[in-house]
Amino acid sequence: MGNVIEIAGLRKEYRRVRRPPVVAIAGLDLAVPEGGVFGFLGPNGSGKTTTIRCMLGLVRASSGRTHVLGQPTPAALRSVMPHVGAIVETPALFPTMTGQENLRLLGAIDRIGPRRVAEVLEVVGLTERAGEKVGRYSLGMRQRLGLAAALLKDPALLVLDEPANGLDPAGIREIRQLLVKLGAEGRTVFVSSHLLAEIEHTCDRVAILDRGRCVLEGRVDDVLAQAARPSLLVGVDDLDAGARLLAADGLTVERADSLLRVALDRGEAARVTKVLAEHGHFVTELRPETVSLEDLFLNLTARSKEAA
Ligand SMILES: Nc1ncnc2c1ncn2[C@@H]1O[C@H](COP(=O)(O)OP(=O)(O)OP(=O)(O)O)[C@@H](O)[C@H]1O
Ligand SMILES: [Mg+2]
Repeated sequence: MGNVIEIAGLRKEYRRVRRPPVVAIAGLDLAVPEGGVFGFLGPNGSGKTTTIRCMLGLVRASSGRTHVLGQPTPAALRSVMPHVGAIVETPALFPTMTGQENLRLLGAIDRIGPRRVAEVLEVVGLTERAGEKVGRYSLGMRQRLGLAAALLKDPALLVLDEPANGLDPAGIREIRQLLVKLGAEGRTVFVSSHLLAEIEHTCDRVAILDRGRCVLEGRVDDVLAQAARPSLLVGVDDLDAGARLLAADGLTVERADSLLRVALDRGEAARVTKVLAEHGHFVTELRPETVSLEDLFLNLTARSKEAA
């Protein structure tokens, strides 16, 4: 099968009383291929939750089309949802029941028995604590129980809206490892986040959303490579003189703290050392600059704010 999620020309406006409507999604196109972890990234208010709500039939889109597992939504929700595990709003868990009781209750709706409940508790690492009341669970344990609930029906597609929200770094790492494991099992994990750092090492592909539009989409490596203006960071004994000499040689140079940033590919590093050495200056440091997804994200969203 090709894409597990396909979104074309999606638009969603929320009406407001005596004020113009909010355009939450402004013509979004997105294709999520089968398998692995797909990161749906964007700052607060960029429309991640709204997109997820539209594709799962939780709100009605103003226009556009959404397909999930090859079928149109919301028209085909009845046949699609048995194969989709989703956490959009925090799942309703009963605090006075144990983790295991909560899952058994949720499973009963779909005739899922205790054996599967035990399996999913194991997957999310809650087996030991399954007999405790959910009211006494930590936030991280509750998130994991929610994930277990989403896994009950052994879904082909998992849709998780900010599953690491509110967790501490250790909790974030646990969720991250869990998502990688689930994505590697042949399922597709579609996960939204406003925090890039948490997703950079988890996802195979990412789409970056900004004010209801997709500003960049692709394999994480490609996205990073595309974003990385090739540049070298150069340390030199005399920064001003170094900058002048390199600029006189036709290079684009700017100061970057105690280094110079030179717009050059790493393969051309010799040009820098040569120019400087010819004029008696020492290169104290020379390395390619690496751009993190975080930098890219901030750049992209800052850029489109300027354009607005
Ligand atoms: N029910 C609603 N009524 C009116 N406006 C809404 C509603 N839900 C969302 N919005 C608006 O739509 C825009 C997108 O919101 P959405 O919740 O989809 O963003 P998000 O990317 O999920 O943000 P966050 O990272 O904060 O969860 C925002 O401007 C928000 O204020
Ligand atoms: Mg949201």
